[in-house]
Amino acid sequence: MDAKDRLRQYLEQRKELGEQDLVLDGLTVEDTMKLLGAPVKASPRARASAPAEPSPPVETGRYAFPGRYAQPEPATSAPPPVPHPSEAKAGPRLPPQPSGPITIGASVSDAARATFAAKIDSLDALAAAVAACKLCGLHATATNPVPGEGSPDAKFVCVGEAPGATEDETGRPFVGAAGQLLTKILDAIKFRREDVFICNVLKHRPPGNRNPAPDEIAACSPYLLQQLALLKPRVILALGTFAAQTLLQTSLPLSKLRGQTHRFYGVPLVVTYHPAALLRNPNWKRPTWEDVQLARRVFDNASGVA
Ligand code: URA
Ligand code: URA
Repeated sequence: MDAKDRLRQYLEQRKELGEQDLVLDGLTVEDTMKLLGAPVKASPRARASAPAEPSPPVETGRYAFPGRYAQPEPATSAPPPVPHPSEAKAGPRLPPQPSGPITIGASVSDAARATFAAKIDSLDALAAAVAACKLCGLHATATNPVPGEGSPDAKFVCVGEAPGATEDETGRPFVGAAGQLLTKILDAIKFRREDVFICNVLKHRPPGNRNPAPDEIAACSPYLLQQLALLKPRVILALGTFAAQTLLQTSLPLSKLRGQTHRFYGVPLVVTYHPAALLRNPNWKRPTWEDVQLARRVFDNASGVA
């Protein structure tokens, strides 16, 4: 493989991760690949009808968790947020992250929030509510709901994107090829799968593994937030671009989000590659190893382990 092929392979990997810009030269990945003579093709997750042009960056607001931070603050409000010391490093510009207890969010009325929280007062109640949920269209095409699984006492929570085919068949998260790799990754940092909690942003499978749609994310987010509110994790591990961008309300690429500790409602959150991406790109094993080691260290520190 010559240098040009290697560069092309590298750029294809970055593009698959959702990156659009090369920081140093201002060209888009697509333009650079065209310059290198690469055939222009849509990314694997893109719908068949999607144009080959790079899609615009994801707008933060569309991820509309019904949260305080979903609405832009008026320009005159609040002084700029003081970064938490753990976020000071590298410093990608993220929207201010909420602190305090995790709630389903301020755009939902107090009464609706209180009713939701009172009714869904356990992980079992949440799984039942997900099974009955018709708030978006995915329940109609999915075979089974996939609410998530693990120990109700888990303090380490992994959040993925959405169920795939095997998960849809079994009703269990991360049990296909990517899931088996996740189990190994957890094993490498001395967590047994059954001791942690594993779930996704979406609880029903998008047909053909297409990307989750904004209305689906908005409908499903209260369940994820309530799971996190019930579990009160010490650390959240966001698996892949989608979970990371959704939880952190940002369109920054994964490469700018991994390798550091963020905060989600005050809870330390570490971002790493999605195991499905790792299966395609073994080059990401090493950074993933570093990320999960970081997550484990943060967990141990928060647990008072020396
Ligand atoms: N051990 C636990 O008790 N909880 C976790 O979340 C992980 C390991
Ligand atoms: N990919 C995900 O994001 N979640 C799963 O549960 C399985 C594959």
